[in-house]
Amino acid sequence: MSAILERITESNRVIRGYTDQKPDIAIILGTGLGKLAEDIKNSVVIPYEKIKNFPVSTVPGHGGNLVIGQLGEKSVIAMQGRFHYYEGYSMQEITFPLRVMKELGAKVIIISNAAGGMNRFFHRGDLMLIYDHINLMGDNPLIGPNEEKMGPRFPDMSQPYDKELILLTEKIALEDGIRLHKGIYAGLTGPMLETPAEYRMLIKIGADAVGMSTVPEVIAANHMGMRVLGISCITDLAIDGIVEKVHFQEILDAAARSEPIMTHLIKKVIQNIDI
Ligand code: HPA
Repeated sequence: MSAILERITESNRVIRGYTDQKPDIAIILGTGLGKLAEDIKNSVVIPYEKIKNFPVSTVPGHGGNLVIGQLGEKSVIAMQGRFHYYEGYSMQEITFPLRVMKELGAKVIIISNAAGGMNRFFHRGDLMLIYDHINLMGDNPLIGPNEEKMGPRFPDMSQPYDKELILLTEKIALEDGIRLHKGIYAGLTGPMLETPAEYRMLIKIGADAVGMSTVPEVIAANHMGMRVLGISCITDLAIDGIVEKVHFQEILDAAARSEPIMTHLIKKVIQNIDI
C-alpha cells in the first residue's frame, strides 16, 4: 500500500474506534457555517489531535473536531475547524482530512468561506455560490506522486462545482427569499488582504470574490470524484478596485450576521440532496 493510503487507513482506524456511521456528506465548517455542528444529532465528536496523521494545530485550544452524525435524514461528517495555507500547512496537509472523509464514505463536500466581494452587484453580508475558481495560490495539493486509487494523474476540472447542487441551492434560495449571487472565487494564499492593484487585476481576470481557502480542498475533491458545493459569505467589498481599509473584526462581524441565513440554506440543501 502506498504511504498516503496507509496514512488514511490509520486515521480511519481511529475514527472507526469511535463510530461505525457511514457519512454521505462532508461539510467543511468555514466562516458562516460554524454553528451548523450544533444541529448534528446523535453526534460523535472526535478531536483532531486524537486522529493519527491529522494535521496538528499550532494554536493551543484551536485544534478542531470531526463531528459525525445525522443532519435531518442525512449522515454527515463535519470538520469543525479547518487548516489554511497561510498557517504554514502544506497543501497535502490541508487536504488530508478530506481524503479521510472520502474514504469513510462521503460523496459530496460542502464548503463555506469568507471572501472579499469585487462584483459591483454585491453587498456586504451577501452570499455567493461559487461556480468556478481561479487558483492563484502558486501551489496545489496534487503535486507529487499520484495515487491512482484516489484519482487520476491529470484530473478533469471542467465542472469543479457540481451543476445539480448549484441548481438545487438556487432553487431553495429563490423559494425562501434568500439573496444569492453566483460567481467566480479567486483563491490567494493571504494572510494579508489585497492591494488596490491586486483587486483591480482580480476583477480584470474575471473573479467576483477573493479569499484564502477552499481552492486546495476543491482540487482534492475533484481529484477523488466528489461532488462539490461552495458558498462564500461576502464580508468586505473592493468594487471598481476602490479599497477601503478593512478591519478584520468587520470581516468577522459581517460573517456572523450572515451565519443564520447560510446555515438555513445549507441545512435545506442537505435535506434535499439526492445521494
Ligand atoms: N481578500 C482576501 N480574503 C478575504 C477577504 C478579502 O478581501 N475578505 C475575507 N477574506
